Amino acid sequence: SHFLPQYTRAEVKKHTNPSDRIWVTYAGEVFDITDFVDLHPGGKSKILLAAGGALEPFWALYGVHKSDHVLEILQEYKVGVISPDDKEEPLDFSDPYSGDPSRHPVLKVNSQKPFNAEPPLEMLTENFITPNVLFFKRNHLPVPNINPDEFQLIVERPPGAKQGKPLKLSLKDLKTKFSRHEVTVTLQCAGNRRSEMNAIKTVKGLDWGAGAISTARWAGVRLRDVLSDAGYTENTPNVQHVQFEGLDQDVTGTKYGASIPFRHAMSKDHEVLLAFEMNGEELPKDHGFPLRVIVPGVVGARNVKWLGRIIVSEEESSSHWQQNDYKGFNPNVDWDTVDFSSAPAIQELPVQSAITEPRPGEIITPDEDDGKVTIKGYAWSGGGREIVRVDVSLDGGKTWKVADLIGEEKKGLVWAWKLWQLEATIPAEDKEITIICKAIDSSYNMQPDTVAPIWNLRGVLNNAWHRVSVTVAR
Ligand code: HEM
Ligand code: MTE
Repeated sequence: SHFLPQYTRAEVKKHTNPSDRIWVTYAGEVFDITDFVDLHPGGKSKILLAAGGALEPFWALYGVHKSDHVLEILQEYKVGVISPDDKEEPLDFSDPYSGDPSRHPVLKVNSQKPFNAEPPLEMLTENFITPNVLFFKRNHLPVPNINPDEFQLIVERPPGAKQGKPLKLSLKDLKTKFSRHEVTVTLQCAGNRRSEMNAIKTVKGLDWGAGAISTARWAGVRLRDVLSDAGYTENTPNVQHVQFEGLDQDVTGTKYGASIPFRHAMSKDHEVLLAFEMNGEELPKDHGFPLRVIVPGVVGARNVKWLGRIIVSEEESSSHWQQNDYKGFNPNVDWDTVDFSSAPAIQELPVQSAITEPRPGEIITPDEDDGKVTIKGYAWSGGGREIVRVDVSLDGGKTWKVADLIGEEKKGLVWAWKLWQLEATIPAEDKEITIICKAIDSSYNMQPDTVAPIWNLRGVLNNAWHRVSVTVAR
């Protein structure tokens, strides 16, 4: 390999389509895989996700590649090595984001600083549980660096109790003094599918596609147990809200914060969690290491990450994100007329669904034998309401079929999404079709059919029928 040319990662990055050749790297070597793309057993669209970059983060997600047979194939395409001078950029300590963790290259980044990104939709619904690296990431501020050995959660006590001294809990206290609880929860950002609102009339906010939603198995302790330990009961007077303060802060020292109603926090049925594990791993840095709140069925914004302090109070959190953001308005309210104090903070989210396969503009080929195509997506509702049905149309809404639901069995309130799938025949004469999905939850809530009547200046709560137009190749 001394005779092989040397390339920098920046040079490799330029090779992402057949006319420039398609290059990838693996273990410090460079491969031109242009001629293998069509032969890939896992499909062309998958292998192209890695074009111009490293294979490792993708193969970490797809274990089938852990074999000599795969490495032998790869070796046939070797064209060079990564130049030994190609070092990582040195950290710039004047940049408050220099301590942010590294992220999976496949994420679609909506904002780098603070980091906001969503997975490609076709990867999102490959698994009922979203792998941590693919889980959407929504940060308002730099990721704080927290030493887990020094970490203490501060819980303010009710007036009069223990001379008003707060309860302080280390991670070890949390893991040993309280019983462990696990729950599968789908988190969705209020801005999920904002780009469709933006397409109608400009809104203020990150241009999220339909990927600001993901599902994980969270483990931790029940918030109600911790509040009880601090001295609160259902009958504690003058308490209406539980405020959560993050340890992430802006240059003025303002921290992220949000609150939920006290009765919600104390409800056994609502399973509000202080989580230290995500999908069997320690909570990743982007998701709130070492401790975050999980409020099942409630908008992402209240699921405070890097939790530092809990305050029980008569008032809601006074933070910007509770008071002046994450609220819904009439479509005719604009930035001159908006009065944020007139609307309640979003808590439980409405019923939602989206199509993840095929993608808009894709050319789809019906199966040669039965003429069928596969349509896939997700559906979820807030407040513990289970998805009971997903309707799918392949003719722009004239006729509807019922999709198969894939999910977890759970008694009581349901916090996780259902993935859905439909094998459908496309009418022989159709060339351009519009696929639509709509979900129905256990309260028979249904999605509105179009975006315009629910448009709002901040671009939140878009749950209109999801439409994907594709071309049929025969
Ligand atoms: C399957 C090779 C890149 C996703 C396979 C298999 C081979 C292979 C040989 C069949 C494995 C078996 O069944 O024993 C390669 C090579 C790659 C590459 C040489 C790079 C040059 C990727 C990337 C992704 C990916 C970047 C994902 C983004 C998959 C998937 C399967 C698969 C999902 C499983 C297909 C199935 O079981 O139906 N790949 N792969 N591959 N590959 Fe790759
Ligand atoms: N908590 C803190 N401390 N800081 C934040 O910026 N973002 C909130 C919430 N909790 C945020 C936070 C928002 S708006 C959402 S949608 C979720 O975290 C996203 O959680 P995730 O990044 O784990 O997907």
